[in-house]
Amino acid sequence: MSGISTDGLIHIALELAGMRQLPADSAVYVSGEALARVLFGIDIGPAELLIARELGCDGVIAHHPAGGSATLRFPEVLARHVELMVEHGVPREVARDAIKPLVSRAILRAQAANYDHAPSFARLLRMPFLNIHLPLDEIGRRLMVEAIERHTASLGREPVVQDVIDALLTLPEFAQAPTQVMVPVGAVDRPAGKVAVVHGAGTNGGAAVAKAYFDHGVSTVVYIHIAPEEVERLRADGRGNLIVAGHIAADLVGINRYVAELEARGLEVVRASGL
Ligand SMILES: [Fe+2]
Ligand SMILES: [Fe+2]
Repeated sequence: MSGISTDGLIHIALELAGMRQLPADSAVYVSGEALARVLFGIDIGPAELLIARELGCDGVIAHHPAGGSATLRFPEVLARHVELMVEHGVPREVARDAIKPLVSRAILRAQAANYDHAPSFARLLRMPFLNIHLPLDEIGRRLMVEAIERHTASLGREPVVQDVIDALLTLPEFAQAPTQVMVPVGAVDRPAGKVAVVHGAGTNGGAAVAKAYFDHGVSTVVYIHIAPEEVERLRADGRGNLIVAGHIAADLVGINRYVAELEARGLEVVRASGL
């Protein structure tokens, strides 16, 4: 068995996600060839790299950005929110305005980060190391959209918010999750109306992005997580339904699809940190 290179791992993810280019929030920190046994975790730091060596792994994959350009250039991928909003009928100018607070916060966070922490230890350990964020979330977003379309089309009536939740629960990642799908804004018995699954854009869009959807014909926004203070802002506004699917469960939707593909190609995957 010849194994898969770090570039090969990236290529497979891009292919599954239907992307041509590696997004800015994903990077190879230490490249490697012919990997046969990789540790895959949602969050990876120096300790996890050492554990991977201890477990006889010859490579490590993180989901969340773990430093380098993936951390420094993270704010760039927030622009994906604009595309998603425009696809759902939000005017481009409104969409651009809605992500401004999100982008300024992300730029300050990136500037503050110790971007070389984990990558420096991967170099010292000579451990091939990469993270794949947006492509796997895009795979997950598509699977969530498909599940919602499939389930609501089978109802023969106008779906309510609970039907969207039930649709998500047809995916094993949500059905088996220790977390609950929540509705912190709106109510389960309200008409779902037009639904937007807002995932695969770096992070959730907070209150401003959800409001932009509600202002332009979307009644139900699905985020995978949201900060409590953003929920308060939306509640004060009093419009729309917000479904919060659960961070790790939702991340797993895309990750599991990718891991299945890696295993089908003969790679051994050691699961950790949420997988
Ligand atoms: Fe994710
Ligand atoms: Fe995540």
